[in-house]
Amino acid sequence: MKNPVLELLPEINEIENSDLRAKVIACWTEALEFRNWTVEELQNMPFTLLAKKVKIGFIEHVRTCLKMAIAVNTVLDNAYGSRKTPVNRDYLVAGSLLADVGKLFEFSKKQDGKIHKDNYGKQLRHPFIGVGLAFKHGLPPQVMHIIAMHSKEGNGEEHSPEAIIFHHVDFIDFDLVK
Ligand SMILES: [Fe+2]
Repeated sequence: MKNPVLELLPEINEIENSDLRAKVIACWTEALEFRNWTVEELQNMPFTLLAKKVKIGFIEHVRTCLKMAIAVNTVLDNAYGSRKTPVNRDYLVAGSLLADVGKLFEFSKKQDGKIHKDNYGKQLRHPFIGVGLAFKHGLPPQVMHIIAMHSKEGNGEEHSPEAIIFHHVDFIDFDLVK
């Protein structure tokens, strides 16, 4: 049987370092198991509960933001070559894929399948959960930094080049639907 995480997020294979790739898969596997999310439920989950009538799904959002992050990095590479601010592509990809993994803990499902926030999600937003999960699975601090800085909690803090790229592409997607 195909690994459900790779089925949902085939872009995990963009991570070149096999150890880093395995750690990202381990985080997503634990996140799927926490509330017994199925592949189908995740494909139908809205990417945010902060905007009404969102037509874009959670998994689509994760994959699209990752593709935008990779594209931005490639454009900068092609434009500036050796003058470009260095970006670690593997950290960028891993952080982009883990920024919202905490939503699988933050969100819960009611018996009728509706997605909402229960008490767990009201206590901790997904960036905090994501950092905790990444720490547990031994992700490097550069990747935890991208998770920590991607949303409003990172406002006013210094961002690494990878965190700058991901934060902006994430808000392109969010601001266009909210
Ligand atoms: Fe997020």
